[in-house]
Amino acid sequence: MTRIHAAITGVGGYVPDYILTNKELETMVDTNDEWITSRTGIKERRILKGEGLGTSYMGAKAVQQIIDKTKIDPAEIDLIICATVTPDMPFPATANLIAEQVGAVNAFSYDISAACSGFIYALTTGAKFIESGTHKKVIVVGGDKMSSIINYKDRTTCIIFGDGAGAVLLESTTEEIGIMDSIHRSDGSGAAYLHMKAGGSRIPASIESVTANQHFVFQEGSAVFKFAVTNMADISAKIMERNNLKGEDITWLVPHQANKRIIDATANRMGITEDRVMMNIEKYGNTTAGTIPLLLWDYEKQLKKGDNLILAAFGGGFTWGSVWVKWAYNTQ
Ligand code: UT7
Repeated sequence: MTRIHAAITGVGGYVPDYILTNKELETMVDTNDEWITSRTGIKERRILKGEGLGTSYMGAKAVQQIIDKTKIDPAEIDLIICATVTPDMPFPATANLIAEQVGAVNAFSYDISAACSGFIYALTTGAKFIESGTHKKVIVVGGDKMSSIINYKDRTTCIIFGDGAGAVLLESTTEEIGIMDSIHRSDGSGAAYLHMKAGGSRIPASIESVTANQHFVFQEGSAVFKFAVTNMADISAKIMERNNLKGEDITWLVPHQANKRIIDATANRMGITEDRVMMNIEKYGNTTAGTIPLLLWDYEKQLKKGDNLILAAFGGGFTWGSVWVKWAYNTQ
């Protein structure tokens, strides 16, 4: 029987105009450009300004770009999945709001919460709807307005994160291209190292929780760093091994952009040279669920049909995973 694959047939992205540079951060916290650049690879990040604008605003811009580029009718979209940890509000889902903004009147839509691994979790989930034959056009969005949960007095986190969103369109194909394989894992014991304490059902928002800065990202950076290096490299090696892929078979590594040193270590372990590693951390920082689709957006013109991509991510939860994608189209 011919297997149906889910192919990525369009990419969109959006980053806000405001650029927060390392130089500006030097005026806000005790840090400096040299430390940030050498420890993370980040030079600047984007910040979404404007009252009442949340993640759905950026996600809808990314999806609208796909609609414009691929000329699909928004009414044909069957499903929108949005990966985010900074939803516009606890409910309804940000994906619902995006669907409404782009006119996806026949879609059902929901969010996935898996922090920095959110986009690849959502990509695998969306692909299953296509592979089963029940859905024809699925949009997967990854985006976060991290500036809404960052304490700009905490130098250990405020230098890393930025805002942005990207999206892909999945459609079915019987060619041997598209989402070929994926492996995902999670480990709730990692919550201790990376989380947001309040605003959920355990500690609802109160004057006390706000005063105690509990609505901001808490991260034990060096502990997360160690888990990220090991797990992202291990899972990427595993997906290559089980598909008989060698370093030289991989056209592009598409790694979550958390820290250039984590990316370098993963590429090294996989035998992938730097010229085949997608990187835009220097200009956007860590946009959480946004990093991987924003890489695809930035590198789209360089991608050729049949290219082997390994998408890899690690994030809060802990969550991590790897997806093997055979690219489905050439861009003129
Ligand atoms: O995306 C989701 C998952 N997240 C990650 O993957 C992030 C993983 N972690 C990291 O990327 C890194 O751990 C950080 C970039 C967060 C921190 O880098 P590090 O090399 O692990 O630094 P550290 O936390 O071990 O701190 C080293 C020193 C400390 O000073 P002392 O105690 O040695 O005197 C910090 O206080 O650097 C200091 N420091 C800073 N100095 C200047 C911490 N932040 C800053 C800063 N500017 N912004």
